[in-house]
Amino acid sequence: MGRDADRKPLAFETLAIHAGQEPDPATGAVITPVYQTVTFAHDAVDRNRGWAYSRSGNPTRAALEQCLAALEGGRFGLAYASGMAAIAGTMQAVSAGEHVVVADDLYGGAYRLFTRVLPRYDVRFSFVDATRPEEVAKAVTADTRMVWIESPTNPMLRIVDVAACAEIARGAGALCVVDNTFATPYLQNPLALGAHVALHSTTKYVGGHSDVIGGALVLDDEELYARLKFAQNATGGVPGPWDAWLTLRGVKTLALRMRRHEESADRVARFLRGHPGVAAVHWPGFEDHPGHALAKRQSRGFGGIVTIELAGGEPAARRFCESLRLFALGESLGGVESLVGYPWLMSHAAFPPEEKRRKGITEGVVRLSIGLEDADDLCADLEQALAAAAKA
Ligand SMILES: Cc1ncc(COP(=O)(O)O)c(C=O)c1O
Repeated sequence: MGRDADRKPLAFETLAIHAGQEPDPATGAVITPVYQTVTFAHDAVDRNRGWAYSRSGNPTRAALEQCLAALEGGRFGLAYASGMAAIAGTMQAVSAGEHVVVADDLYGGAYRLFTRVLPRYDVRFSFVDATRPEEVAKAVTADTRMVWIESPTNPMLRIVDVAACAEIARGAGALCVVDNTFATPYLQNPLALGAHVALHSTTKYVGGHSDVIGGALVLDDEELYARLKFAQNATGGVPGPWDAWLTLRGVKTLALRMRRHEESADRVARFLRGHPGVAAVHWPGFEDHPGHALAKRQSRGFGGIVTIELAGGEPAARRFCESLRLFALGESLGGVESLVGYPWLMSHAAFPPEEKRRKGITEGVVRLSIGLEDADDLCADLEQALAAAAKA
């Protein structure tokens, strides 16, 4: 199901439920079946029915890939076993001796891959402040093959100008990859802004229920797709059919969930801003957030993550995180349930301390993933945890 030229394009909500999900051709099942099979019977030694072996391709996974491609407005989707597998998958577009310019405010796991794994294969990385596109341009060399950005960034929610970075990449004959995990395809479409690849940890909002790890890429370029698909089959980091199915079920309600996540994030961010125990509240929806105007221009919303800095530093942050009752203290974000994370020791532990401080990730920083519980209940929980933190 595509966006046919002769018809009004289907809305996001409709694509989320129907794209790639025609009734099953074999049985008419309305919901895409879980094709829990390793292999597919051939009709002859040189003829099958389009499916051969589930690492190479599986109909449940294909439904997810087509749906995500439609939601990102791209031609091709590739699903992976995790967001990190998707990140590693994009790196198959880069060869030894080539160079990648990376926005330095990024997920700690991506940083670990870029600093501790890929340099062993002689892939070179420069980390720059991509909120200043001129820094990206300055870092580009004759060997630059890719520009890698996130927006909003994790965990400080800075906004990077996707179109400007994509233009710099294109001007250098390089690819622009955007980790769109925080924004989701509901709020932002990197391909429409000029990027080559939109990347997701589907573990987060796309799956949305904290019950399945996954990752995905969406892209338009057929040659790049063929290269990455070949590498995906050659390296094997694919999701199983159940994981693809669970993710696809989550996708169907993505629009509804994102609207509510954002509504409650707005409410929580404003509540926290007025609290004396909170030194700063970062949420791109605030008009005085440095990236607000840019976020408004390139996205359709501000998302459901709120990052705060506690006035009492590390002791207060620890006490706060450990005192919350509705917000579980754990890695991850984007699920129906609220989560709290302590980037200093959790998601961003891979960064050296001076690097974290330089990015504003201090010992007082706490990241809140605002879930779908009642917003008043969430504010009451935050209030009692702030009261506990004040005694730290
Ligand atoms: C922005 C971002 N990208 C990628 C990842 C990695 O995804 P996964 O945990 O599914 O491997 C994460 C995980 O937290 C993330 O927050």
